[in-house]
Amino acid sequence: MTDYCIEIENITKRFAQHVAVRNLSLHVPKGSVYGLLGPNGAGKTTTIRMMLDIIAPDEGTIRILGVPFNDKHIPNRIGYLPEERGLYRKMQVRRILRFLAELKGMKGAVADARITEWLERLDLKTAEKDWGLAKIDELSRGMQQKVQFIGTLLHDPDLVILDEPFSGLDPINSQALKDAVVDLKRRGKTVIFSTHLMDNAERLCDSVCIIARGEKVLDGPIARIKAEHGTRNIALSLDGETSESVAEVLADRSLVQRVDDSNRYFEIELAPGADSQRLLRRIVDSGATIQRFELVQPSLHQIFLERVGAAGIESGMAGHG
Ligand SMILES: Nc1ncnc2c1ncn2[C@@H]1O[C@H](COP(=O)(O)OP(=O)(O)OP(=O)(O)O)[C@@H](O)[C@H]1O
Ligand SMILES: [Mg+2]
Repeated sequence: MTDYCIEIENITKRFAQHVAVRNLSLHVPKGSVYGLLGPNGAGKTTTIRMMLDIIAPDEGTIRILGVPFNDKHIPNRIGYLPEERGLYRKMQVRRILRFLAELKGMKGAVADARITEWLERLDLKTAEKDWGLAKIDELSRGMQQKVQFIGTLLHDPDLVILDEPFSGLDPINSQALKDAVVDLKRRGKTVIFSTHLMDNAERLCDSVCIIARGEKVLDGPIARIKAEHGTRNIALSLDGETSESVAEVLADRSLVQRVDDSNRYFEIELAPGADSQRLLRRIVDSGATIQRFELVQPSLHQIFLERVGAAGIESGMAGHG
């Protein structure tokens, strides 16, 4: 038994002279929420389409749920929200959802019950209004996206792949989507989604892979990535005056590399190899009353900017030629 839901080894995809994905390997742990991050044109959608056997890689291998990606039983275990949205505009919401469910082999009565459940859950069916009875083109764009999201999940897939699921959603609908993703994870499902919104990824993902110019920049559990990029900073607030003995601790260069002293608030950069807990003990021992002692790490956004940055995007442009 593999612990990975998706195993991608060294895939490459070329479109004419342009290499959209280059020698990419990634491993998505089962039961995790995984973010595929990268700037526009990085190769996220191309990678997702290869996972789904919509386009074939020129090189490399992909295994999904423990079997090769083109196994015939795989599609019914996957739910896919494509980047390009679009439902038959003249069709009724319920009919379209039933049609999508039947494509995945669901029986009508089961499908209908689930459709009702989901419409209620995503506020498309309330006491006042049942949008299930409306036609697609009567719905706002965000609502249509919710309907398409429901269509992705009706057959209760083990693996859910969402390409830019947050684009075009307002904060309330984004939150509803995040809640649904968290719930899927609780139920043991694996969710992979692409985005360039680092905030959503940071809050939602267990692991991420950042790609730029078709190549992997970094990947792994968020906690590890953040720890590796930690500037080893500590936010410290003290109650009352800073005593001589605290000042002495903060001046100890074996513990503290640099300190930004704003009277009662300090931003401390640990010395190389220094242990934050030892610093904490020394401050406590000095008799100070601590209000806040917190290891602060860079956000995923900062890491993204640092690792991908303008240079990454520029050389990506150069790669187009
Ligand atoms: N069918 C295709 N034919 C030619 N080039 C393509 C094709 N599909 C993708 N590309 C190119 O491959 C690169 C990666 O595209 P892709 O759609 O995978 O990026 P993305 O990371 O999903 O970007 P976005 O955030 O804008 O959705 C781009 O330079 C794109 O122009
Ligand atoms: Mg895309």
